Amino acid sequence: EQIEKGGYEHFMLKEIHEQPDAIRDTYRGRLLAKEGIIKMSGIDDNIEKFTNADKITIVACGTSWHAGLVAEYIFEDLARIPVEVEYASEFRYRNPVITNKDVVIAISQSGETADTLAAIKLAKQNGAFVFGVCNVVGSSIARETHAGAYTHAGPEIGVASTKAFTTQITVLTLIALKLAKVKGKISNSNYHYHLQELELIPEKVQKALQSDQHIQNVAKTYKDAKNCLYLGRGYNFPVALEGALKLKEISYIHAEGYPAAEMKHGPIALIDEQMPVFVIATNKGHYEKVVSNIEEIKSRAGKIIGIVTEGDANVKNLADHIIEVPETLESLTPLLTTIPLQLLSYHIAVMLNKNVDQPRNLAKSVTVE
Ligand code: G6P
Repeated sequence: EQIEKGGYEHFMLKEIHEQPDAIRDTYRGRLLAKEGIIKMSGIDDNIEKFTNADKITIVACGTSWHAGLVAEYIFEDLARIPVEVEYASEFRYRNPVITNKDVVIAISQSGETADTLAAIKLAKQNGAFVFGVCNVVGSSIARETHAGAYTHAGPEIGVASTKAFTTQITVLTLIALKLAKVKGKISNSNYHYHLQELELIPEKVQKALQSDQHIQNVAKTYKDAKNCLYLGRGYNFPVALEGALKLKEISYIHAEGYPAAEMKHGPIALIDEQMPVFVIATNKGHYEKVVSNIEEIKSRAGKIIGIVTEGDANVKNLADHIIEVPETLESLTPLLTTIPLQLLSYHIAVMLNKNVDQPRNLAKSVTVE
């Protein structure tokens, strides 16, 4: 096992650090940035299914569901296709409106999640075209779907999903860009800019990983918190949900993810000097609005940890700590902002002596409903 961990103390840490290579492996042979081409046979062979679809419904569970939420933003923003993201366990039992004009995308690391598998069967019965995004080659979901794209993240052993998440987002981003181009919804320059920036993501993830020592110090400060709040807006709202899930899963600290502006409708009541609030505030999108959300937290004495773009000055003045990530296009920021939140949860769990790779009550692959 020590050999398999490749010198890392835990599989989770190894898998966090594998992300630059994993993302590169995901787009290898698919993303031809110089030529301006995205090659994905599962999409190319079924392109009319996607271009004629009334809507895309994404079904998944857990972290994969969060990747689906990120995809919703990118599909709607760039490809202008309406997207619904559903918990597979809800979808399968609620008589959803699905017809042969629908495309359903099932996302699953293991490819074995029982609820996701059942959702796929239901969608097929209703005539939908079902596309799988799986990591495990030859898994049940990969076999049950009409077509698909593997994430090629390599084996993920840690129960808390890390590289599966970022590679799922990478695959879904490629699909969204491809559809945006085919449907003529994206300008040539924006399309090429996205392709170039996507190709740079692995080295930017590498750079984000270099904050590890600083993140350990931040983890030390907050490891004894009883509750934490994670906030983000737009593309980074799902990252806030995923950040909170990661902390819950491995450190057993209660954490909630929320859209930053919804805070005033409830969670703000929880804020006091005991409450660390992790706020994703990258410099694109809703930056000013997020900064004003941060001011609201500060005026209630909450502890603020900002995940910001390199060189940020505003949040630095307000926050107790900041963690920087490199600059990229807004639509690609989840691939970077996720990294410090993974490391933070990891270090807190290690400091609390928890079983990082096999947290209590959780399973890597949930084959029962
Ligand atoms: C389990 C795992 C999670 C995972 C979820 C969905 O709960 O512990 O990490 O996100 O299942 O798994 P899947 O394999 O379908 O992505």
